[in-house]
Amino acid sequence: MRIIHAKNKEEMSKIAAQIFIEQVTNKPDSLLGLATGGTPVGLYDELGKSGCDFSRVTSVNLDEYAGLPGENENSYRYFMNDNLFRKINIKLENTNVPCGTAEDLQAECKRYSALLNKLGTRDIQLLGIGPNGHIGFCEPDTELFATCSVVDLTESTIQANARFYNDISEVPRQALSMGVKEIMDAKHIVLIAEGAGKKEILKKACFGKITTQVPASLLQLHPNVTVIEATGLEEE
Ligand code: F6R
Repeated sequence: MRIIHAKNKEEMSKIAAQIFIEQVTNKPDSLLGLATGGTPVGLYDELGKSGCDFSRVTSVNLDEYAGLPGENENSYRYFMNDNLFRKINIKLENTNVPCGTAEDLQAECKRYSALLNKLGTRDIQLLGIGPNGHIGFCEPDTELFATCSVVDLTESTIQANARFYNDISEVPRQALSMGVKEIMDAKHIVLIAEGAGKKEILKKACFGKITTQVPASLLQLHPNVTVIEATGLEEE
């Protein structure tokens, strides 16, 4: 793992944006894995301002809430359209997010896994980290899903996401998420994290035991991970 310490969220976003811009400049038809949440908003702003040509890029997102249609402003499809896709010249038909309102969610997971297989290895996969160490919505457990699955969100994740809703009762309890095997199937994983509240979990992920109870710790097994952090993490 290569760990880059940024001074603050702005610097983290700029450093991460540079990695994506270089990737797309060097390979205009890059396949990018994208994430949602509070952490990548600044990075997506930077990409929007960059003028970088995304016209041949294809993207796949990590996850989506079960039950939320793309028009719902809390859905991850809405988030991606609003925070990134409308700001760059990517073709919307080349952007992929699991469908949270599919009639058969298991079938939708199978479709998404098949799509990932068809598209092939991602050039970069962007990740955030949950307060409980989740990546995508692979929640801490005794065993983890390998491929795209319908997951029950943990109380920690529901509480962390409640900030986007009027009331915690409105937060979806389930999501569709890439599995760990799929997340790891990227040439380069870029994990971004900011805020002192993420420091301890990031420390466990980077330097702790490798355990399914901290899904991000599995990234220690990947040969090409860049962590860009503004949490105050110190080197072990
Ligand atoms: C988002 C995702 C999640 C978030 C994580 C951190 O697509 O898969 O794993 O990256 O929950 O969220 P924020 O950035 O809101 O702290």
